[in-house]
Amino acid sequence: MSTLPDDLRLLHRLIANCTLCPLHKSRTMAVPGHGDPEARVMFVGEAPGFHEDRQGLPFVGAAGHLLDELLQSIGLDRSEVFITNVIKCRPPGNRDPLPAEIEACAPYLDKQVELINPEIIVTLGRFSMARFLGPSASITRIHGQPRLADERIVLPLLHPAAALRQERFRAQLQEGFLVLKRLLSGELPPELRKEPPPGPPPQQLSLF
Ligand code: URA
Repeated sequence: MSTLPDDLRLLHRLIANCTLCPLHKSRTMAVPGHGDPEARVMFVGEAPGFHEDRQGLPFVGAAGHLLDELLQSIGLDRSEVFITNVIKCRPPGNRDPLPAEIEACAPYLDKQVELINPEIIVTLGRFSMARFLGPSASITRIHGQPRLADERIVLPLLHPAAALRQERFRAQLQEGFLVLKRLLSGELPPELRKEPPPGPPPQQLSLF
């Protein structure tokens, strides 16, 4: 992994010391994010869990092991991507993040997206999907279907923890990673292709 550039290191230091919401009182460590600051792909999960809170690193528990496996299945290593979460501190008992916590953390995630500037954001789970595609997006309807949001490709995927709970979700998640592989190799579905720039009209061939 490349070392973090100054602006991202400063941002992560701010996150590590953040007191903007009450979660700072119960956390062991904030979990800003980890990976290649120049990654083409940024994974955004929900919130740190028990192990992440202890280590200060994202996706290092069981869901993280599955994420590593899925990455490897398409020839990627976590050092080649950037991984973070919608909220940077563990909610007690791993409860769902509250709207106020998501809002308090929003500027941190926005700044990470701005600084890392990934080609593709992969959302893991409904909280991350809602953050990028709006609250009415439905994961069962759009899982694995990339779309453009703010001129960036967003690929909504199930959360790996869901696949740990239900085997049938594992195959879906695997398919979603194959979509990511195709996107990375430059294969874009027609709805994401940019129109060719307007040029001069084709010349008419005239024989007389
Ligand atoms: N689940 C998440 O959403 N993020 C983590 O970092 C770990 C588990």
